[in-house]
Amino acid sequence: MAKGLTYMATAAPGLEDIVVSEILSKFPGAWIQAQMRGRVLFVTNHPWKDLLSLRCMDNLYLHAAWLKIGRHRADLPDLTDKIAHLILPEFPCIANAGRKAKDIVNAIRSGRHTFSRFEAAAAALEGLTKGHGYAPGTAEDHDLHFRLDIMEQDALFSLKLTDAAFRFRGHRQFSPAALRPSVAHALVWLSEPKDHDVFLDPFCGSGTIPIERAAYPAVSITGGDISPSAVETARQNAPEGVEIRLLDACNLKDISSGSVTSIVTNLPWGKQIAKNQDIEVLYCKFLAEACRVLAPSGQAILLTDRHGILTKASRTAGMKCRALYTISLHGMLPTIYLITH
Ligand SMILES: C[S@@+](CC[C@H](N)C(=O)[O-])C[C@H]1O[C@@H](n2cnc3c(N)ncnc32)[C@H](O)[C@@H]1O
Repeated sequence: MAKGLTYMATAAPGLEDIVVSEILSKFPGAWIQAQMRGRVLFVTNHPWKDLLSLRCMDNLYLHAAWLKIGRHRADLPDLTDKIAHLILPEFPCIANAGRKAKDIVNAIRSGRHTFSRFEAAAAALEGLTKGHGYAPGTAEDHDLHFRLDIMEQDALFSLKLTDAAFRFRGHRQFSPAALRPSVAHALVWLSEPKDHDVFLDPFCGSGTIPIERAAYPAVSITGGDISPSAVETARQNAPEGVEIRLLDACNLKDISSGSVTSIVTNLPWGKQIAKNQDIEVLYCKFLAEACRVLAPSGQAILLTDRHGILTKASRTAGMKCRALYTISLHGMLPTIYLITH
């Protein structure tokens, strides 16, 4: 087997296990080297463009080095020196960019240091200029985009492979409370998509979850929302094969009992939108309807930060509710739940 390259997939913190599951399932033989907050390092010899089928990640990077770094500003020249002497992996976009490439470095820092992430990025950029001949570029004009992840006294140095469009999957319109496609995909992945699925997202907003579900076969994929404008946006976003309906998740009268195998949804949290709705009543009515429409072996994957209200509503509806993962999203900590009969 050819020697693999090491990649780093980034994702919302809390989704790392789901990213790992998607990597191992889609790329047999891949080896997970490390899992850190919001990052998964893995080794594979699959062509890197194939790795773009990984949809639970936000971005993909080519891992170039794992460095040791001091905590103080006085240690930054050492970082410059290490990066200047680094042997970059043999990789098409590095080779194609050549020695006159324009580059940028974006640094992310956690832990106690006496330097800022901007100072660390500048030190890394200097190393690339001194040792590799690259010229500093700008956010708008560069050939190579490096990332430096500093965690206490460790630093991961990597090259960004995905562009801005990847994270947002093209140019879809998003509603105010829209999920990132990668998070929507992680929910879909957790539902273990099956060909025989009759799939429903009854709070679909701009349609992010049903659109991500459309990456896998199903008998039917339906998204619904009570807001006519959300329905209109979702219809514009949705690919062929995804049906978007105006519906009230608390009264799914057009959906027959036991007919749905999989519900995946981002519930209203009562914060960004639906502030005036009584979330407790909404959850109770929806859970009762979910219990009715779900097939006996069916399941729902729900995202919310309203733990107490959801567990109470599930109990009232006679459904089992299990918390799976808590994730970090826009400064909030919602949890992914599994609901079954
Ligand atoms: C958290 S947002 C969902 C966002 C969506 N996942 C996305 O990525 O765009 C919740 C959605 O629930 C809808 N909603 C609120 N009450 C509803 C109800 N009773 N039935 C159906 N949809 C409802 C809102 O209009 C809103 O679009």
